Amino acid sequence: MTGTDFTQGWVNGWIITIILINLLGCLWLLWWTRKRPDDPIKDGESLGHSFDGIEELNNPLPHWWLNLFYFTIAFAFIYLTLYPGWGDAKGIFGWTSAGQWETEVKRAENKYDVYFQEYAAIPVDELAKSTEAIKTGQRLFANNCAICHGSDARGNLGYPNLTDADWLYGGSPDKIVETITNGRGGMMPPMGTALGEDGVRDVATYILSFTDRKGSGNAAAGKAKFDTLCVACHGVDAKGNQMLGAPNLTDAVWLYGGSEKIITDTINGGRHGKMPAFKDTLSPEKIHVLSSYIFSLSN
Ligand code: HEC
Ligand code: HEC
Repeated sequence: MTGTDFTQGWVNGWIITIILINLLGCLWLLWWTRKRPDDPIKDGESLGHSFDGIEELNNPLPHWWLNLFYFTIAFAFIYLTLYPGWGDAKGIFGWTSAGQWETEVKRAENKYDVYFQEYAAIPVDELAKSTEAIKTGQRLFANNCAICHGSDARGNLGYPNLTDADWLYGGSPDKIVETITNGRGGMMPPMGTALGEDGVRDVATYILSFTDRKGSGNAAAGKAKFDTLCVACHGVDAKGNQMLGAPNLTDAVWLYGGSEKIITDTINGGRHGKMPAFKDTLSPEKIHVLSSYIFSLSN
């Protein structure tokens, strides 16, 4: 960030003016209080005021002390010129806090790149057995994924649990890498208008019947509607389709919740879960290690 990002032009002039007034003021003070050859009061004589029995004598500062003051003022000028000190001027060294941060990040990356290169040569499912790699993967997960999937990767409503064997898009090493690299977006269309209120209730009741529960509609009528409107994505047996990320509706694992109310809401309004792509944020080597960590959670 440069000064002009958050200040207007006049502020830079104002800052420079204040610095100059301070430094030149110090210089002037040193000059004004210097020892003068025509001083009527000689060294060591009384200046004529005393307080509480203490008398002020004319004892000028030692030379080395005075020179130290001059030196600090000169130092200030040099420092402010080398580093960005004068308003938004860049400084001779070209130093910026952002630049320093980038250099440090680069240095750290070069250091850890070696490990990631080594890991990259080992297949995801093999690497999942390495405690060291899993620890690294866990750290990457905490920094990039935990906000949505939870720090224990068990997910939340709308955010899938990554520790079970139930996969929307597939739990093979390749599928996990693909999910993290390119992201995913499940598209469940709103079906309320196509089904009508009773239709939605019937289909929801049919879905509840897979887990031996009763709903407020007619399961047989629901099955007929399911077979025309839902099978294309969820499959004839309602066990889902990993190509589309369509969930298995016959098990007790629910992405959005399995109560009659929530299932009805899902069918009425549709759902559109979004898993962001990480190919621009994480290198392929990091995604490789992260995938091993995810793989290790359910294997
Ligand atoms: C902004 C929230 C968010 C972040 C951050 C996020 N995810 Fe996801 N992730 C999701 C959602 C939502 C889904 C489900 C997508 C869907 O419904 O189609 C998902 C799906 C997945 C899946 C597929 C699960 C399955 O059953 O097939 C994997 C694997 C996954 N995420 C891993 C990760 C990893 C690893 C990270 C960190 C690099 C991450 N996610 C970061 C929201 C997120
Ligand atoms: C175009 C494909 C498609 C069609 C058609 C479709 N679905 Fe879906 N459905 C999906 C996808 C994809 C998801 C996951 C949404 C997500 O990841 O956000 C889903 C999610 C669901 C869920 C939520 C499951 C959970 O675990 O929370 C239910 C319930 C559901 N669908 C029921 C139905 C019913 C009933 C129909 C027919 C009336 C239907 N779907 C038609 C693709 C489809």
